Amino acid sequence: MKSLVSASLLGCDLADLKGEINSIEKAGADWLHCDVMDGMFVNNISFGTPVLKCVKKAAKLPLDTHLMINDPIRYIDDYAELGSANITFHLEAAPDPQAVIDRIHSHGISAGISIKPATPVSEVKPYLQSADLVLVMTVDPGFGGQKFMPDTLEKISEIRFLLDSLCRENVHVEVDGGINAGTVKICREAGADVMVSGSYIFGADNRAAAVKSLRI
Ligand code: DX5
Ligand code: ZN
Repeated sequence: MKSLVSASLLGCDLADLKGEINSIEKAGADWLHCDVMDGMFVNNISFGTPVLKCVKKAAKLPLDTHLMINDPIRYIDDYAELGSANITFHLEAAPDPQAVIDRIHSHGISAGISIKPATPVSEVKPYLQSADLVLVMTVDPGFGGQKFMPDTLEKISEIRFLLDSLCRENVHVEVDGGINAGTVKICREAGADVMVSGSYIFGADNRAAAVKSLRI
């Protein structure tokens, strides 16, 4: 599977959202990664539906919505109806993860399930049969600009192995947190195919070159 770059808007100049979206689309990113935080599931508050509605209007690229919120089923309809192409929620935040996947699928869009660095693969295993994307957090969620945690690599390989054994080779394995030209290589080798990056690409002098360096 070819690899994709999902640019995390959390790393951009939010006062110039339209300009930043245009810039990252020109730079060649594949998806726009939108980090929604509620100040409860994670210790930070970012943005929600009013902002993402504006992002959708300004963007040509698909919205890759990453919900870091408690009890995400409450908001699936909202994020689907505003035009997300994929919605990823956290396994740890959902009392009934299968119900969340089913609710996302009821809108005809891609369903992603994410695990934090401390959550073992065994907990996500029951959902590999129905999820379209598995997001392995490579930092503790909540903030951009953190350092990649190498312990997560084994989980990426294990998930890719399990997906292959289920004949689900087309399911995306996404990585998020501390991804740059160095860490992307080991993630790709481990089996990841969607690379989320915020501070590395938005902080680069040459964003097109930064995006290219992540598509390996
Ligand atoms: C963090 C978010 C990430 C964040 C990544 O919890 O999920 O998407 O923006 O930022 P960087 O690429 O700077 O680690
Ligand atoms: Zn994210």
